[in-house]
Amino acid sequence: MKYYIEKLISSDDINSKVNYLGKQITQDYFNINKKFILIGLLRGSFIFVSDLCRVINIPHEVDFMTVSSYGSNMFSSRDVKIIKDLDGNIYDKDVLIVEDIIDSGYTISKVYEMLLLRKPNSLSICTLLDKPSCREVNIFIKYIGFTISNEFVIGYGIDYNQNYRHLSYIGKVVVN
Ligand code: IMP
Ligand code: MG
Repeated sequence: MKYYIEKLISSDDINSKVNYLGKQITQDYFNINKKFILIGLLRGSFIFVSDLCRVINIPHEVDFMTVSSYGSNMFSSRDVKIIKDLDGNIYDKDVLIVEDIIDSGYTISKVYEMLLLRKPNSLSICTLLDKPSCREVNIFIKYIGFTISNEFVIGYGIDYNQNYRHLSYIGKVVVN
């Protein structure tokens, strides 16, 4: 397949959005008396989590989990399995799941269901990118960085065939 990458969101725009989200989250969780924890879904969210946690000015833990994903193609597999579980527990904690991109919603809703069984004090979702036109499962997303149309994107942690994660901007894959 022949394709090229077109810039969609600049690294400056990503940085200001991450700062904005960090401020919102800091405000919203400022007065909690439980432990606060960010859970990044690997691998796509690793850069987003590392930038976001540094602009959240309240004490918090960071943990990661890997669930099965698209594999090497551009289509969503419906079957979501835990490949690498959290290292710690989330019981009675205020939990914010941090995702790179939400498409059909299957991945995040399965993760949400699985984590809810562990009885956190609260469980919310933050995503850098949202593709609402692709949604097949109804979910509430508390924090959304950017809403985009139905495009396959890469960069800032997000891959295509395991490439392009290192890009500081978000680009879209254009097939020609
Ligand atoms: P969903 O289950 O359809 O919502 O898909 C979510 C997961 O698929 C995300 O965590 C991404 O890892 C991956 N994904 C969805 N859209 C894209 C994209 O445009 N580029 C790269 N990965 C994507
Ligand atoms: Mg992902």
